[in-house]
Amino acid sequence: AHAAPQRKKADAPVTVAHRGASGYAPENTLAAVEKADKLGFDWVENDVQRTKDGELVVMHDTTLARTTDVEKLYPDRSPWNVRDFTAKEIGRLDAGSWFSDDYKGERVPTLEKYLKSLTENHQRLLLELKSPELYPGIELQTLKELSEHGWLDSKHTKDKLVIQSFNAASVKTTHDLHPALKTGFLGNPKISELDSYAKFTDQINPTYTAATKDYVKAVHARKGARGEQMEVFTWTVNDGSTARTVDKAGVDGIISNYPDVVREATRG
Ligand code: G3P
Ligand code: CA
Repeated sequence: AHAAPQRKKADAPVTVAHRGASGYAPENTLAAVEKADKLGFDWVENDVQRTKDGELVVMHDTTLARTTDVEKLYPDRSPWNVRDFTAKEIGRLDAGSWFSDDYKGERVPTLEKYLKSLTENHQRLLLELKSPELYPGIELQTLKELSEHGWLDSKHTKDKLVIQSFNAASVKTTHDLHPALKTGFLGNPKISELDSYAKFTDQINPTYTAATKDYVKAVHARKGARGEQMEVFTWTVNDGSTARTVDKAGVDGIISNYPDVVREATRG
C-alpha cells in the first residue's frame, strides 16, 4: 500500500479517486478502491444508498441497471431501483462484467465490507450520501455504521473522513448529528450564498468549471461549520490540462476517475 504517498496540502491539492479509481476498474467496487491503493491514492470517493431490507450498499446510480447484470437476473423488475431489492438479491449481482471481463464476479459491496477493506489499506473516505431524499434516516444510519467500524473516532474525523451530498438538508442533518465530522456540499452555490452554507458544511465541492480563482478565494475566506477555513474539492477532473487549471485556482482537492493523470499534471 501507498507506493506513492499523497503530497502535503501545501504542495498541491489532494487527489481523490472518484468512485474508486473508476477509470481503471468498475466504479464503487472493492476492485476500484484496491486499484486506487495500488496507484498510491489513499483518498477515495464513493456513494452510499440503502436496500429494501435496510442494508447500506455502495452504489452510484439509484437503479442497478447500468453497473450490474440485474436485467438478466431479474428481467421483470424494471426499473431495478436499489431500494426495491434486498441485500441478498443485490449480493448476487455481477458488478464487474459491464466494465470488462477481467472484473467478472465483482460484487456490489455493503458499506460494512467496504469500510473493512478501506481500513485494511489505511485509505480515507469522501463518502457521498446519494439521493438521501429516497432514504429517510440514512444520515443517522450511516453515522451509526461508521461508528461501529471505528470511523468516527478523532483520528478519522480529523483527516480520514468527509461526508458530502448534493442535498443541503442532508448535509446539515449530518453535521448536526455529529458536529466533529467534516462535511461537504456538492454543487455550485453563488458567492453571495456561501455564508449560509458555512453554517452547516466545511467544504464546497463544485464542478470544475465553477472552481475559479475568485470562487476558491471566496470559499477560503470563510470558516466552515467546524470553525476551520472552508475547502474546495472539485470534480470530475479527468485530464491534465483541467487539473492544472484548478490547481492554479487554488483548490484543496481534485476528484478524478484517473487520479494518476491528475497527480502527474499537478506535481509542479
Ligand atoms: O464527488 C463528486 C461526484 O461524485 C459527484 O457526482 O454523480 O459522480 O456522484 P457523481
Ligand atoms: Ca459521488
